[in-house]
Amino acid sequence: MFKKLAIAAAAAIVLVPAASFAAGGSEGHIENVKFSFDGPFGKYDQNQLQRGLQVYTEICAACHGLRYVPLRTLGDEGGVGLPEDQVRAYAAENFEVFDAELDDYRPAKPTDHFPVNTAAGAPDLSMMAKARAGFHGPYGLGLNQLFKGMGGPEYINAILVGYTGKEKEEAGTILYENTAFPGGWISMAPPLSGEDVDYADGHSNDLHHVSEDVSAFLMWAAEPKMMARKQAGFLGVLFLGLLSVLLYVTNKQLWATVKGKKKA
Ligand code: HEC
Repeated sequence: MFKKLAIAAAAAIVLVPAASFAAGGSEGHIENVKFSFDGPFGKYDQNQLQRGLQVYTEICAACHGLRYVPLRTLGDEGGVGLPEDQVRAYAAENFEVFDAELDDYRPAKPTDHFPVNTAAGAPDLSMMAKARAGFHGPYGLGLNQLFKGMGGPEYINAILVGYTGKEKEEAGTILYENTAFPGGWISMAPPLSGEDVDYADGHSNDLHHVSEDVSAFLMWAAEPKMMARKQAGFLGVLFLGLLSVLLYVTNKQLWATVKGKKKA
């Protein structure tokens, strides 16, 4: 009986990863990126987020919305961190929203959200960095994701730099070969080619820097409170550790008399 169980358990351990490995066959190739927010003490790099916002605004926003992100959060500390007057100016200069009361369009205010998608077939990017996992590690166990970070921004970065330059037409749509996209062909034309934006801080604007900046920005969009979550998690672990020590000491104290008697 025990032997049978042991064999079944062993078979399960061998077969399950093999199955998920097979299922992962059509997944694209994703490289790890060292983001400033990786790891338990990682933080968003405010300058990088501001550059990423610029890339999103000048390039991606032509097709992709960020409908769940309120514009006022651009002023939040620990994130993009724009001063209040700049948030107001950014909203008004870049976006228009339809106001039912005015029955007309007006410049956006910080209380509005980023706009919705404008191009057919382009997904909203608000949650994209959390919706997509980056890399699963050996046998799709999710270990790399655990040890190297969320993986969503790595996925977005890999898509942006993963174009091979090959195209094909299928049922009237042009598809572009992309080494990171599951299936290998994506309908988004390469949005970046390097030197797509001019950064005010003089940071390099080659393809990889621009791509990493906008990927970091989209991670912030999907999880603006990441720092607070990490801090809370760390405090939780600290607290549980302390509690364990106290419980251990209390336990010792409580049983000291009983155990002491036995010996005597
Ligand atoms: C000309 C319009 C257009 C622009 C500009 C554009 N995209 Fe896209 N994007 C699309 C379309 C269409 C799709 C859907 C592709 C598909 O599913 O085959 C897409 C898909 C995506 C995806 C999703 C891939 C997935 O897993 O579903 C990501 C991430 C993405 N775009 C990021 C960006 C970023 C970042 C930028 C700016 C640097 C950008 N896009 C600029 C049209 C655009």
